Amino acid sequence: MDQTVKIRNIGVLTSGGDAPGMNAVIRAVVRAGINSGYRVYGVRRGYHGLWRGDYEELNSRSVSETLQRGGTFLMTARSKTFNSPEGVAKAVEMCKIFDINVVIAIGGDGTYRGALDLSRAGVPVIGIPGTIDNDIACTDYTIGYDTAMNTAMECIDKLRDTASSHERCSVIEVMGRKAGYIALNVGIATGAEVILIPEVPYDFDRDVIKVLLEGRNRGKRHYIVVVAEGAGSAMDISQRIETITGIESRPTILGHLQRGGSPTLRDRLMASLMGSHAIDCIKEGRLNSIIAYKHGEVIDIPIEEALQMTKTITIEEFENAKRLSM
Ligand code: F6P
Repeated sequence: MDQTVKIRNIGVLTSGGDAPGMNAVIRAVVRAGINSGYRVYGVRRGYHGLWRGDYEELNSRSVSETLQRGGTFLMTARSKTFNSPEGVAKAVEMCKIFDINVVIAIGGDGTYRGALDLSRAGVPVIGIPGTIDNDIACTDYTIGYDTAMNTAMECIDKLRDTASSHERCSVIEVMGRKAGYIALNVGIATGAEVILIPEVPYDFDRDVIKVLLEGRNRGKRHYIVVVAEGAGSAMDISQRIETITGIESRPTILGHLQRGGSPTLRDRLMASLMGSHAIDCIKEGRLNSIIAYKHGEVIDIPIEEALQMTKTITIEEFENAKRLSM
């Protein structure tokens, strides 16, 4: 597809794991897009719908009452077919047939890799970070992260009530794939005795058992251990704690609970600002970019550059959390 083509029609899709706030992004894209003179097409089921031509024109009424709803009304999928040169070629063909001149893809890293393939095949793209994991390197914030953390925090507060009544240790596994952002921040916010994240290697005896027993010796009678799914399993950790210390322990896997629910104010706001910024990029010709939030500002970064970036949790950030859990 000729990248100098005048943009008339925008396709918008959500891909990978859903995240609270995705609907709010779609709404912003649709409304800001129509306001700027474009037609906006919703693509159902992510890249799967893109190559199958599963499109629906959206108007400002189609996105009424979506701002506060969790999930994604366009639905999402992890498309196997699209992950091949043939799948990408099919998607390009479909975009030609429907005269889709640019695709806005909302999702995480996998979504951006798909977007990059699409852009290299000639369909311009804009990526918007939507994942609860906050693990996208080019941005300080991803849509859905705040809601997921608040959900996890509320659950852990409840678990603390019962752990305290029974003088138990509650081991809670939170999502995050290979990243520990949810675990670290939720652990701080719930006053966890132990936080385990994949970015910082741990020694089980020193960093779990000894910490819990020292706490007991100082008078603690219940304990919260927050483990990122990439750092271990709640079942396994809970069992080991009980066997070694004799402290009664219970595991809880929060799982997909963290992906649902009405987005928080922060997620609605970030979604609205990022969706709107994507339309500005299209208007101003900054195609093939990823929308990001950096140093308090919504910006855009060329996709090739964005995918080269890295970010991680530093040992200092982690150590700071440990100081608070005495
Ligand atoms: O990337 C979002 C996420 O919820 C991760 O935290 C988790 O590891 C994964 O998706 C779960 O994926 P699925 O929905 O396929 O079970």
